[in-house]
Amino acid sequence: MTGAAGFIGSHLCERLLGDGHEVVGVDNFSTFYERGRKEENLHAAQASPRFVLREVDLAVADIGAGLGDCDGVFHLAAQAGVRGSWGETFDIYTRDNIVATQRLLEALRFNRIPAVLASSSSVYGNAAQLPASEDAPLAPMSPYGLTKLAVEQLVRIYVAQYGLDVVSLRYFTVFGPRQRPDMAFTRFLTAALTGGVVHVLGDGHQTRDFTYVSDAVDATVRALGGPRGAVYNVGGGSPASIEAVLALVTVISGAALTVDHQAFAAGDVTHTWADTSRARRELGWRPRVSLDDGLRAHLDWVASTLSAAAA
Ligand SMILES: NC(=O)c1ccc[n+]([C@@H]2O[C@H](COP(=O)([O-])OP(=O)(O)OC[C@H]3O[C@@H](n4cnc5c(N)ncnc54)[C@H](O)[C@@H]3O)[C@@H](O)[C@H]2O)c1
Repeated sequence: MTGAAGFIGSHLCERLLGDGHEVVGVDNFSTFYERGRKEENLHAAQASPRFVLREVDLAVADIGAGLGDCDGVFHLAAQAGVRGSWGETFDIYTRDNIVATQRLLEALRFNRIPAVLASSSSVYGNAAQLPASEDAPLAPMSPYGLTKLAVEQLVRIYVAQYGLDVVSLRYFTVFGPRQRPDMAFTRFLTAALTGGVVHVLGDGHQTRDFTYVSDAVDATVRALGGPRGAVYNVGGGSPASIEAVLALVTVISGAALTVDHQAFAAGDVTHTWADTSRARRELGWRPRVSLDDGLRAHLDWVASTLSAAAA
């Protein structure tokens, strides 16, 4: 599984280990955020004798050599985040998203094992109709979204040409313990617990279909071996505005928030909302964790990281 040291990947490792599998975790510990945080993410997985970590850069490594003994591949490694994808850093996105995935697909040509790839709701841009079904037009609004669309198209091409067993998942804003430090909930909850200012990009009326991390992981596990070339939305199913989230943060943290509204970030869409009927029907999946419960677990994690840092 790739991107093992990341937010979603580290949870997926633990789920697979818990299900009794042996897991080879691949990650290059990219510098997008602190290495220490990623090492911490892997703490529980590394306690298992069935987990092996390979520090490997998929954009250059000989991937095929490591695939021989695997029954399946989960490809979550990527340069994530909309905002950094403008300007000079676009290079990192093309490398870690498009080039790395193309190299993995090449390796899969010669190691016929099923794979699941992480795509994103960003491929829709501002969908004209909500909830957006997988058949909605794809018009990303950010260079990041474009790289995820390119990844999906690469999958389509390799499936058509070589019959690879690959499924793509469009995750919608995933949250929960270990969420990346650049993402809104981690920033909001940290500010709530430290008395810092909550920086909101835009007026707060934008909505997102928030997905709890264990639900995203469950869909990912179910998708392995799914119909060749299929694409599924993975969304929590109850979109909320940033304003509503901030109100909830105030309630569950008991902190009065100081909110600073800044300009909308370039490339951020106004609303996302997943039509998940295909994943429910074909994968037998459904989201189980509510925004309220998930946010409380996320808060507990932020509190524990803050107290560990202070110790
Ligand atoms: N978090 C979300 O809300 C969300 C939403 C939509 C899609 N996604 C996608 O889900 C996946 C996981 O996202 P995340 O939030 O856990 O991100 P993350 O940054 O926490 O994890 C990604 C991991 O990939 C690794 N990586 C990057 N380039 C690599 C390379 N060339 N070789 C090996 N490893 C490399 C990084 O070091 C990192 O640990 C990504 O593909 C992301 O685009 C995430």
